[in-house]
Amino acid sequence: MLVADDERAYAYLAMIRRYIGGAADTNDLAQTASAQTAPITADDCAERLADADQVFAEWLAPLHRTAAEVAGIEPARMADALNHMHHESRRLTMCDDVLLDNVVELARVVIDERVPGDFIETGVWRGGVTILMRAALTAFGGFGRNVWVADSFAGLPAPNPATDLRDAIWHHLMRAVGLLRSDLATVREAFARAGLLDRRVRFLPGWFADTLPDAPIERLALMRLDGDWYDSTRDALDALYPRLSPGGFVIVDDYGLPTGCARAVDEYRAVHRIDAPLTRVNTQAVYWRKPW
Ligand SMILES: C[S@@+](CC[C@H](N)C(=O)[O-])C[C@H]1O[C@@H](n2cnc3c(N)ncnc32)[C@H](O)[C@@H]1O
Repeated sequence: MLVADDERAYAYLAMIRRYIGGAADTNDLAQTASAQTAPITADDCAERLADADQVFAEWLAPLHRTAAEVAGIEPARMADALNHMHHESRRLTMCDDVLLDNVVELARVVIDERVPGDFIETGVWRGGVTILMRAALTAFGGFGRNVWVADSFAGLPAPNPATDLRDAIWHHLMRAVGLLRSDLATVREAFARAGLLDRRVRFLPGWFADTLPDAPIERLALMRLDGDWYDSTRDALDALYPRLSPGGFVIVDDYGLPTGCARAVDEYRAVHRIDAPLTRVNTQAVYWRKPW
């Protein structure tokens, strides 16, 4: 389907956004998401943090800090964060409207300005953002571009505490939400229900370190990194930034999180002397534009 004018393009994207947001009027479309389970309480979280104090004692002792201090979270806020991920059971994305607006806006810019290349998200969970990226190609006429959908489809990998202790602690805590495990068949089905599963949607199942370096991606115009950890962010930047066209955008969803993501971004930008300004999308996400 080609949506020619702006009004129709944004009406179409609004429908897709209701779908990936799990809106009631798209329940039939969104029924691929998993079933709701019991809420996680602050007491559960206090127990998990106490458990993390034991598991990571060897790394915490020299720092004289608790797991909660290193992870930058206390039980009540942790319960809120985990429930947000866990209970929005019909949602196909955790991203809120501000983050989704940002994807649509930058997709439009690169299409309108003919910045060459495909779109990718590394860390897709149930695929909602990549469905929106594919829909944006339809809405704005991004002919000939692919959308790459990269995820383990096995949840978050276990970080090495010696590389990033915060990530390792968060990984331990995220067991409460099944490590955000999704599966490829469900994500494919979610694309299909929206009528957007076609040859321009390319799946890269597996760990980023294995799938991204040799992925047959020639050029990218929009890359969105949402893998949470230091290693996941660094692996994606190492493999993909060299393939980003000048004028293309990198969105980093997790820059403001208390994980190793920001460190990976800051190191990469320092090593590669990237001084393009970081623009904040919200308290968590940032993006920058690769200079021409
Ligand atoms: C926060 S979720 C992504 C949220 C998603 N972008 C959305 O719109 O809701 C993080 C995802 O990254 C994936 N992930 C993290 N590190 C990874 C790695 N190194 N290799 C493959 N997948 C990874 C996890 O499986 C998970 O699905």
